[in-house]
Amino acid sequence: MAKFFINGKNRLCGEVEMDTAKNALLPILAGCIMVEGKVTLEKATAYTDVEAMCDILRALGGVAQRKGDDLEIDCSSLDKCELSHELASPVRSSIFTLGPLLARLGKAKVAYPGGCDIGLRPIDIHLSSLRQLGCKIVEKNGYIYAEKGKPLTREVFLSFQSVGATENIMMFCALLPGESKIYNSAKEPEIVDLARFLSCCGAKIEGAGTDVITIIGVERLEGCRYRAISDRIECGTFLIAAAMTGGEVKLENAVSKHNSALIEKLKTCGCLIKEGDNEIFLSAPKRLESFVDVETAVYPGFPTDLQPQIVALASIAKGCSLVFENVFENRFNYVGELLKMGCDIRFKSSICIIRGKDKIFGADVVSTDLRGGAALVLAGLACEGYTTISRVEFVDRGYFHLEDKLVQLGADIKRI
Ligand code: EPZ
Repeated sequence: MAKFFINGKNRLCGEVEMDTAKNALLPILAGCIMVEGKVTLEKATAYTDVEAMCDILRALGGVAQRKGDDLEIDCSSLDKCELSHELASPVRSSIFTLGPLLARLGKAKVAYPGGCDIGLRPIDIHLSSLRQLGCKIVEKNGYIYAEKGKPLTREVFLSFQSVGATENIMMFCALLPGESKIYNSAKEPEIVDLARFLSCCGAKIEGAGTDVITIIGVERLEGCRYRAISDRIECGTFLIAAAMTGGEVKLENAVSKHNSALIEKLKTCGCLIKEGDNEIFLSAPKRLESFVDVETAVYPGFPTDLQPQIVALASIAKGCSLVFENVFENRFNYVGELLKMGCDIRFKSSICIIRGKDKIFGADVVSTDLRGGAALVLAGLACEGYTTISRVEFVDRGYFHLEDKLVQLGADIKRI
C-alpha cells in the first residue's frame, strides 16, 4: 500500500491547474447509460472513482475507453441491468445507475453502494422518490430490485436536499414521458453540470441549481462531446494548503463563485484573495487568524467536503475555532490522526472545537477517508519535520496525482 512522505514547512508558491470535478463526472458517467450514441468527456480526470464507474459501465455492456485525457463512452449496446456487490460496493456513485437503468431498460438489480465511511449514508430518499414515480422497488439480500411502473405522481419532494437523490431522479425523469418536477432539490454546481450534460444529449431540463427542477421527458438521448466543470473541492483544498503554509498561489481552471463560502472564511483568517474569471489568487499571512466558526451546509453553504481541511487549518491558526458538521453524522474520524501531530481538537457529536497551535509536529498517520486523508496531507505540509500518511488510496479517489501538483508548488512530498 502506497504512502505519502512529507517534510513539512515549505511555503506553497506558484501556479497549478485544477482538474475536472469528480462529483460532476460520476453522475455524468451514470447518465451515459441512457445515451444511445458516443459521448466524449473531454479532460475527464482519471480519479480512481471515475475508473470504477467506467468498470461499471463496461459490466453493463457499455464501452468506456481512454483517448489521451478524454474518455470515450458508448452505451448504445448496453443491455444488462444487474450490478454486482463487487462493482457497486466500493463507490457511492454506483447508486446513480439506478435511475438511468430504469429509464433505459425499465428494470434494475443493483447492490447497495459504498463510499467513504462518514456516516450511515442511507438511500431512502432515492428509493422513496422512485416509488412515488411509479417504480416497484424491493430491497432483498443486499440488492435493490426495481421495475418501472405507472407514476402515482409527477411531483416529488425530497425530504433533504440530497445531491445524489436529486441526480438520480433528474436522470430517471429525463426519459419519462410528460412533465416531472423535483421540489427541494439540491443546488450544487455538479447538479447544474449534470443537467447541462443531459441537455447537451437532448434532454429538456429547467431549474437546475434552484430548489425546483422541471423535466420534460424525451424519447431518446443522443451522444455529444462535453467537458465537466472544474473540481471546487480540489480548488478549496489547494487554497487551504496555501493558506496553511503562508504561501502565495494562483489556481487556474478555478471558479471562485463555487467556493464563496470558503473564500469568505479565508479572508477572515487574513488571506488576500483576488478572484479572476477562471482563476483564483491567494496570498497568506505568516500566521492565520481564527475564522471563529464554520457550519457545513448544502450549497451554497460551506461544503462538508472541505470540513476536514478547514479543521486542519484551524489547528495552526491563532485562537479557538468551532466547526459544526451538519450534513454527515460521522465525519470526524480523521481527528484522532491529527491529535498524533500535536493538534488540540475535541468534538462532541457534530461540534468540533479546535485550539490553534503555533507548531504541530510530523507523525506516522493513517487516512480514514478521502477528505480526512486530504486534511492529513495539509497538516503534514504545515508540520515541523517528517510525516508519513498511509492508506493514500482513499486520497486517490478524489485527487489525481495530488503529490505532483503540491511538488509543483514547492512542497517536499513524495509517494513511497
Ligand atoms: C455527494 O454524496 C458527494 N458524492 C459527497 O462527496 C458530498 O459530501 C455529498 O454529496 C454532499 O455534498 C458524490 O457526489 C459522489 P447526499 P451523496 O445524498 O449524494 C443523507 C466526497 O468527498 N441522505 O447529499 O451521497 C446522507 O446520509 C464525497 O467527494 C439520506 O438520509 O450525499 C447525508 O447525511 C463525500 N438519505 C446527507 O443526506 C438519502 O437517500 C447528504 O447526502 C440520501 C442522503
